[in-house]
Amino acid sequence: VITKPYSLKEEEDESDALAGKTKLTIFYGTQTGTAEGFAKALADEIKARYEKAAVKVVDLDDYAMDDDQYEEKLKKETLAFFMVATYGDGEPTDNAARFYKWFTEENDRGVWLPRLSFGVFGLGNRQYEHFNKIAVVLDEELCKQGGKQLVPVGLGDDDQCIEDDFTAWKELLWSELDQLLRDEDDVNTASTPYTAAIQEYRLVIHAPLTSYEDKFGNLANGNTSFDIHHPCRVNVAVQRELHSTESDRSCMHLEFDISGTPIAYETGDHVGVYAENCEDIVEEAGKLLGQPLDLLFSIHSDKEDGTPLGGSLAPPFPGPCTLRLALSHYADLLNSPRKSALVALAAHASEPSEAERLRFLSSPQGKDEYSQWVIASQRSLLEIMAEFPSAKPPLGVFFAAVAPRLQPRYYSISSSPRFSPNRVHVTCALVHERTPTGRIHKGVCSTWMKHAVPLERSQDCSLAPVFIRTSNFKLPADPSTPIIMVGPGTGLAPFRGFLQERMALKEDGRQLGTALLFFGCRNRRMDFIYEEELNKFLEQGALSELIVAFSREGPQKEYVQHKMADKAAEIWSILSQGGYFYVCGDAKGMARDVHRSLHNIVQEQGGLDSSKTESMVKKLQMDGRYLRDVW
Ligand code: 2AM
Repeated sequence: VITKPYSLKEEEDESDALAGKTKLTIFYGTQTGTAEGFAKALADEIKARYEKAAVKVVDLDDYAMDDDQYEEKLKKETLAFFMVATYGDGEPTDNAARFYKWFTEENDRGVWLPRLSFGVFGLGNRQYEHFNKIAVVLDEELCKQGGKQLVPVGLGDDDQCIEDDFTAWKELLWSELDQLLRDEDDVNTASTPYTAAIQEYRLVIHAPLTSYEDKFGNLANGNTSFDIHHPCRVNVAVQRELHSTESDRSCMHLEFDISGTPIAYETGDHVGVYAENCEDIVEEAGKLLGQPLDLLFSIHSDKEDGTPLGGSLAPPFPGPCTLRLALSHYADLLNSPRKSALVALAAHASEPSEAERLRFLSSPQGKDEYSQWVIASQRSLLEIMAEFPSAKPPLGVFFAAVAPRLQPRYYSISSSPRFSPNRVHVTCALVHERTPTGRIHKGVCSTWMKHAVPLERSQDCSLAPVFIRTSNFKLPADPSTPIIMVGPGTGLAPFRGFLQERMALKEDGRQLGTALLFFGCRNRRMDFIYEEELNKFLEQGALSELIVAFSREGPQKEYVQHKMADKAAEIWSILSQGGYFYVCGDAKGMARDVHRSLHNIVQEQGGLDSSKTESMVKKLQMDGRYLRDVW
């Protein structure tokens, strides 16, 4: 099944089918599939409620080829909903970036959407500084540009229960839509919020083949550009541990071999990696589903309207494949299940008491229980399935409605193509932590990297589908511009790339500006990653000064922001000369604290009042001289 872009041609073809109906478009900006899932669920619910609604779900990137087409098409919309996630440092998702920039930044269109009624639901996380920024700005702009806001912008918070926020927002929406779309004979107002979850899927079990070809090869199928939907399978060339044996944690250095592929990257870009669930997890999932792992199967939608298969089954979900392959590559088994997944499990629980409890957990009455027993306890999907052994959904339902699609993980590339043209380097900390139920949570991708076998050790090396995501986190165009880099822990990654790049520039005879690096780790002997390389960069002049905060060596915690305060005058002088300030690493704690520290330095050194300081820091950001790569 191929998701077709929503083209003008299609729209014309549709006009007959639209006779007497009201056209309604649901746009989504999604990174991990949640916004897309919500958009599709909203579409299903609207269709179930209102006979006269002709609903279309549209990927913002596929809506238009260029900006002119956005304008032309948007003018024709009368009723539209936007499900948009805010990602990273208050950024739009990749598939919404082009639209968002065009709609909110390059705007001298005035009031031009007087026919449009709209609603925006945002997907964000309150732990982050720019909570739901994209949804809020989009909502404001839609109003400014003449749209009529049907309901206040919904602020979904993934730190709590985002499905409840979505349900609450939809409740406001129904009363508005009832007025616009309700026919006298539409009685279907009490539809379940999770219709998609219990839809039927046809499962085809294939006779075992003697020679089974793994189709999960090069998914680009001859494409020359690789992206999230068309990753390129590459070898792991190098894998080594960066922490010393004294450390009780682990951090990997990995190099993907991109020679002979069309993959190209720039210093500061990210690499998306599709990892596999590890074997014991796959075995456990097979047992819980009550199916043999060598079962060869495919899944087909029974939906009559030919709507492309939703969320988890969208391409590149393969044709016939073994259950082992499907579970290891496509199923997110270790995150907590959403309420819609519990509803789907309940529908297939043969034990009535289990079905009842699953339904309770997903109901409004079970809200607190869900947030405690499922979310706060970090119960994984597998743990929950183990608690409800009679709930054995058919594979079609499992892959479409219970287990979300396993998402690629993004890493800041820790190399420069000038220095390492055939390799993409990654620096990855192992996620290995005990959850409140006593389970050891092993991060999918970092665990895969920990066990990856590199080509330098075996011809039968590990492979992964990868793709590059470009970023704005770039060195100044002029290498003589001074820079300050702040990157504790794996936040060092992109700066290793920066320093490799500066080294290469220096060798080309370019003049380099001052470069300060603030790095932080627990203890010099355990987790001072890339220490030798950093010293070499110092010796060779790619780095001017290395300032390290050891958080667990002395009686008191020392963090990068404390070291910044010690160097306030130097930082101020670099900024005053037009220098750049970069931060990479943890967004919730570190980047917030570093931001505060920068603010204090500007205020004290510049002798400014609080509001002048604020606008100066804002200006640094607007000018692209204060850049953050945070997660
Ligand atoms: P800690 O683990 O001792 O608290 C890399 O992870 C380094 O960042 C560690 O030394 C860690 O210290 C430190 N770190 C933790 N929280 C931080 C914060 N809010 N700001 C700066 N550094 C922090």
